[in-house]
Amino acid sequence: MSDLETEPLLDVRGLVKHFPVKSGAFGRVSAHVRAVDGVDFHVKQGETLAIVGESGCGKSTVGRLVLRLIEPTRGQVRFEGDDLLALDSDQMRARRRRLQVIFQDPYASLNPRMTVGAMLGEPLWLHRLVGNEQQRSARVSELLELVGLRPDHARRYPHEFSGGQRQRIAIARALAVEPRLIVADEPVSALDVSIQAQVINLMKQLQQRFGLAYIFISHDLAVVKHIADRIAVMYLGRIVETATTEELFRHPRHPYTRALLSAVPLPDPTAIRERALLEGDIPSAINPPAGCHFHTRCPFARASCRSDVPQLIADGTGHATACPWWPELPAPPALVEGVRNEQDRIRLDRLQAAFVSQTEAS
Ligand SMILES: Nc1ncnc2c1ncn2[C@@H]1O[C@H](COP(=O)(O)OP(=O)(O)OP(=O)(O)O)[C@@H](O)[C@H]1O
Ligand code: SF4
Ligand SMILES: [Mg+2]
Repeated sequence: MSDLETEPLLDVRGLVKHFPVKSGAFGRVSAHVRAVDGVDFHVKQGETLAIVGESGCGKSTVGRLVLRLIEPTRGQVRFEGDDLLALDSDQMRARRRRLQVIFQDPYASLNPRMTVGAMLGEPLWLHRLVGNEQQRSARVSELLELVGLRPDHARRYPHEFSGGQRQRIAIARALAVEPRLIVADEPVSALDVSIQAQVINLMKQLQQRFGLAYIFISHDLAVVKHIADRIAVMYLGRIVETATTEELFRHPRHPYTRALLSAVPLPDPTAIRERALLEGDIPSAINPPAGCHFHTRCPFARASCRSDVPQLIADGTGHATACPWWPELPAPPALVEGVRNEQDRIRLDRLQAAFVSQTEAS
């Protein structure tokens, strides 16, 4: 078997990004934001890895580092067997075709002055994927149909579309160059829940059809549940837990994951989880707490947590946890009967109804 067959599509090791903070009249570097503080993960061909965590934990920075839109402070990013950080700009340009991105706000990422046809046609010319105008037009029509739009939409401008349709155009543009991996940074967060379900189901269909891999970045575990094969939970620049989606939802180990999950509405409308509410705000990434970054908010913290950095250690099944104390912690909050917060109930009911109808329709 060749290395490429055994190696994951993407392999990230010891990735660190510290942004300098400048202050004073001379703009001297006075501190660093430790946005990403040493993360390791991999993505296999055709799978979806979700990266979840609260705002500011470093999710988007990880995505931008993988795409090499910014340079890391340290670490290694291997994609299809190549060390991406060792490539020069010409080599990186060729690689970029295989590594695409979809952002949260499709309106901001689409050029308002270009027709959809021109926007989809541009990468086809740039990467010489079509030889003449006829082939370009045929490929643009095909891409629009792939994402559930019509060929005549090619003549329209982004403002003529709804938010969900614009995200479909962004997906078509990413697909145009036949990528292997798409980094999707909060791709449905700006959309209404029923539209979220449509876009996620479209992404799943395209994944199956073309063997795509996704890094799906989201702050919303309820959304991630419907698309991710595996989940990596981040807290203040570090991954604190990774597992398959089913395992993470069934047997969360890290106290932070448990707290995040306790805020996710449950499928049974009569049940609620005891909330493991997080106390206090996320500490600043400029001066994160020593030892376990989570110790200032962890209900189970002990003295050594203030000094010892917990390693992300995997068991035989691949479930990895950055808390040495997890086997001794009390069982995660149980489901209890109760009246759900009305807003949560409405949101969950709509989300579920949307997923059921979408799944049945597909
Ligand atoms: N260019 C930059 N210069 C300085 N600090 C930055 C820069 N980009 C991000 N940061 C900081 O790095 C940390 C991580 O930011 P990042 O955008 O990766 O978080 P995130 O998890 O994507 O958050 P959100 O859910 O709000 O999108 C934050 O403290 C942020 O303020
Ligand atoms: S290492 Fe300590 S502070 Fe960190 S999650 Fe585990 S128990 Fe909590
Ligand atoms: Mg972000």
